[in-house]
Amino acid sequence: MKTTRLGNTGLTVSRICLGMMTYGTPQWRPWVLDEAASRPLVQRAVELGINFFDTADMYSAGESEVLTGKFLREFCQRDEIVIASKVYFPVDMGGAAAPERPNRSGLSRKRIFHAVDASLKRLGTDYIDLYQIHRWDPATPIEETMEALHDIVKSGKVRYLGASSMWAWQFAKAQQVAKENGWTRFVSMQNHYNLAYREEEREMIPLCRDQGVALVPWSPLARGFLAGNRKTGDDKAGATSRAQTDDIAQKYYYRASDFATVERLTAMAASKGVSNATLAYAWLLHKGVTAPIIGASKLPQLEQAAAATELALSAEEIATLEAGYEPHPVIGHA
Ligand SMILES: NC(=O)c1ccc[n+]([C@@H]2O[C@H](COP(=O)([O-])OP(=O)(O)OC[C@H]3O[C@@H](n4cnc5c(N)ncnc54)[C@H](OP(=O)(O)O)[C@@H]3O)[C@@H](O)[C@H]2O)c1
Repeated sequence: MKTTRLGNTGLTVSRICLGMMTYGTPQWRPWVLDEAASRPLVQRAVELGINFFDTADMYSAGESEVLTGKFLREFCQRDEIVIASKVYFPVDMGGAAAPERPNRSGLSRKRIFHAVDASLKRLGTDYIDLYQIHRWDPATPIEETMEALHDIVKSGKVRYLGASSMWAWQFAKAQQVAKENGWTRFVSMQNHYNLAYREEEREMIPLCRDQGVALVPWSPLARGFLAGNRKTGDDKAGATSRAQTDDIAQKYYYRASDFATVERLTAMAASKGVSNATLAYAWLLHKGVTAPIIGASKLPQLEQAAAATELALSAEEIATLEAGYEPHPVIGHA
């Protein structure tokens, strides 16, 4: 497994990050794996050299963090691995759609202080390597958020800060506020980027590359859509539980031009003798991404992700994969 530095930091991460949203409880989403089904996957990821793991307090209402901590204690040395988690959404089986209750979501000072302690407890560790804001909070002054984040870094509970999907102007503003006040700045951006959704190429990706901020995109396979096992015209068809039940994927992708992207990907993958997934991850790694955050529900999927770090693509191949892309409305922000 190849490794790299996380943006401008000295932190070493594998070129593949394992997304822990797939592990927790199927009570949260029908396609989520329980502890017994998840364990061999995390163990294999570690054997393959993955040292970078991304969870969030909201995944499976906290159960993903519990399993992340448990598995990594079983299979890893704490000083070698990078645990990333997130704060913003309510920690509730209802997820983002949970009934509104005071101070249970967002990025106020109170919420951040409470959330980081709760995450540390669930993870069973005394620090989080990369603590990310899951979204922009329009209801809290950014000065309040950035100072609270700086304080949890200085308290030793968190090593580095990251952000996730938001507008580029919001990210630039947050970084500027931190700089002006001598507070800790974000070192990474976890945004929505894959062959079927490339809107981040307009503003956020050039901003991050200019500033040396690491790109760690989510849903690099468009929630499995790029694997080629979904069917046009029938959003309940598909070969796997996630293909049949992930209504977010059905809302985000599933347009004629997205299926055309999958066709181009499938044809090139066949000609190169690799899976769609390997080729889709390799494309991201050639686009300046530090580490795609992959979702894996079966063991061969991990091998196919690892293979992507060894696959070289020519400029012509990259252009062929990108040809015919049609812009999407911006999705995946708060
Ligand atoms: N910051 C955010 O807002 C945000 C949002 C979403 C996700 N995330 C993070 O990103 C991670 C990944 O998200 P994601 O699960 O949506 O990523 P993804 O990699 O786009 O999709 C993963 C799904 O693709 C399918 N798949 C994976 N490898 C495959 C292969 N080799 N062949 C065929 N199908 C394959 C699996 O579905 P099947 O079960 O159908 O096989 C798997 O569940 C999450 O775990 C989380 O850490 C963050």
